[in-house]
Amino acid sequence: MSETSKTVAVIEGDDASPEVIQPAVELIDQMNLGINWTYPAVGEAAKAETGKSFPDVSRVMIDEADTTLFGSSSGSSGASLFYLRWGKQTFANVRPCLHLPGCSSPLAHPEGIDFVIVRENLEDLYVGVEGPLADLTPLNLVGRTIRKPIHELGEGRYAIKVITRQGSERVIRFAFELARTRGGQKRVTSTQKHNMLPATDGYFLEIAREIASQYPDIDFETFIVDDFACRMIIQPQHFDVIVMPNLYGDILSDGAAGLVGSLGLAASGCYGEDYAYFEPAHGTAPDIAGQGIINPTATLLSACMMLEYLGFGDAAARLQGAVASVYAEGKHLTPDQNGTASTLEFCAATAQRLGIHMP
Ligand code: IPM
Ligand code: MG
Repeated sequence: MSETSKTVAVIEGDDASPEVIQPAVELIDQMNLGINWTYPAVGEAAKAETGKSFPDVSRVMIDEADTTLFGSSSGSSGASLFYLRWGKQTFANVRPCLHLPGCSSPLAHPEGIDFVIVRENLEDLYVGVEGPLADLTPLNLVGRTIRKPIHELGEGRYAIKVITRQGSERVIRFAFELARTRGGQKRVTSTQKHNMLPATDGYFLEIAREIASQYPDIDFETFIVDDFACRMIIQPQHFDVIVMPNLYGDILSDGAAGLVGSLGLAASGCYGEDYAYFEPAHGTAPDIAGQGIINPTATLLSACMMLEYLGFGDAAARLQGAVASVYAEGKHLTPDQNGTASTLEFCAATAQRLGIHMP
């Protein structure tokens, strides 16, 4: 291995997910960047072998790799996903929304859509504290709107939403730095429900304003999240980098994928201080598993983000250009994009543009 060689841990995921991860890895391998691939066993396969769905040896393989390429998980590989997020503290989930000419979008004028959602990836309702309302009785919490102790509402459940200063500062700063470097409109939009949730989302906005004042070269604006959802659909070209708490980011990034065609196009990368991992934003597509027709675009574009992160910027640009040119030509698109090509045909067409032969 040369000194510059990188190691990527690959978790192929469940259902139709391996059908896109395997050819994507093969394609990148053929680009001869000297990447060393390792395969931590997780999920059902790991359980059968070791009795655990996320054995220590797999965790160590993730730790020892420079990054992880993760397929989609349907549950049994969930522990490894949680480790990649909370264990590795990958706090910024970056989800680009880019219109590729030739893709089939439901919009009449999708041209020029090029924005990035930066989703806080670890807090908000995702801290995972939920339970029966009765547990809250000793706290005697009075709801601001309902004006009575919430345990008096009778049988029910609660979930806790957490917005911390550190968690918000780091993701908002990440969004401003991204706006500086990505060569877009140099605009950061923050979105949250600060009117209804002043203590939590209002805090997120307060911190966004503080950080915005440290970036006078970047335009800053904010919208309440419901208003934002409408603007994102009506005028998507207006946006550049949009930062938001976790749950809104989960929902709106799928919505954004719909603007440019489908979830099959939505790339995603989760970045922390000293680790990042990459995964398509879509799920495992169990309805089409085994048919070989899942759209590999989201995985290939996530792989572009991964190559960029690993320091292979030129290769990332070439791969992205090749995918874009497959759309521009329009002859090798998968059924979700109104084509008839298989996953492997799409990948082979991409490879051909890179001067690579896929077996
Ligand atoms: C995503 C997914 C995950 C999330 C699930 C699988 C836990 O929807 O990456 O967007 O909610 O973050
Ligand atoms: Mg999601």
